[in-house]
Amino acid sequence: MTAVLTKTLTDVIKERRSVRKYNPNFKISKEEINEMLSLATLAPSSSNLQPWRFMVIQDEDTKKELRAIANNQEQVETSSAVIAVLGDKEMYKSVEKVYRSAHEAGFINEENMNRMIEGTNKLYPAAPEEARKNIAVFDAGLVSMQLMLIAKDRGYDTVPMGGFNKEQFAERFNVDDRYFPIVLIALGKADTPAHNTTRLPLEDVVIEHI
Ligand SMILES: Cc1cc2nc3c(=O)[nH]c(=O)nc-3n(C[C@H](O)[C@H](O)[C@H](O)COP(=O)(O)O)c2cc1C
Repeated sequence: MTAVLTKTLTDVIKERRSVRKYNPNFKISKEEINEMLSLATLAPSSSNLQPWRFMVIQDEDTKKELRAIANNQEQVETSSAVIAVLGDKEMYKSVEKVYRSAHEAGFINEENMNRMIEGTNKLYPAAPEEARKNIAVFDAGLVSMQLMLIAKDRGYDTVPMGGFNKEQFAERFNVDDRYFPIVLIALGKADTPAHNTTRLPLEDVVIEHI
């Protein structure tokens, strides 16, 4: 009898490490990247407004250009794809679509749909842009983490990168003013395993356990 080895979520979490050396000849298909992104978007978000947007960069010349505005980080060029995660400052504009689809799917009744739409349209546009950006950054972090674990589960590797010039990125990729770049995620097959990292001891990070 052959044993079926199934990776648990715990295994995937423990195995994920930031990889910076990729096999430049290994290509992940656009279809598979879309599958991973679709799964990643099952992440939670504030009022389910999903204030994340993605740009998938796989073209070799474009990755070369991107490397120049990302502190010359090698993985930008050698990974199979760079996923730029952008935030939506005007996430409330999606409210109608989000709650109507939940209603049409039979998940909420009409009254609750209208209540959510009304409440969101009252609350979010009145909030300072800074507050909305903070929400988008937080939610983009959740979707990014999911994406990195999903990739690891499929045998791929990633590294999140905040080290890039965000103004230059927005200009080069014609990012609409509604959106803003948050993080780049290199995705590919490791050439060299990542170096290990440690974590602060739990007693340093659990401030209180009441
Ligand atoms: C928001 C964010 C920005 C990061 N920016 C970079 C980066 O620009 N370049 C890089 O090589 N690693 C970057 N990292 C990766 C961290 O250095 C790495 O996650 C950390 O050292 C822990 O290692 P591990 O991911 O292998 O567990 C970033 C991580 C995060 C969460």
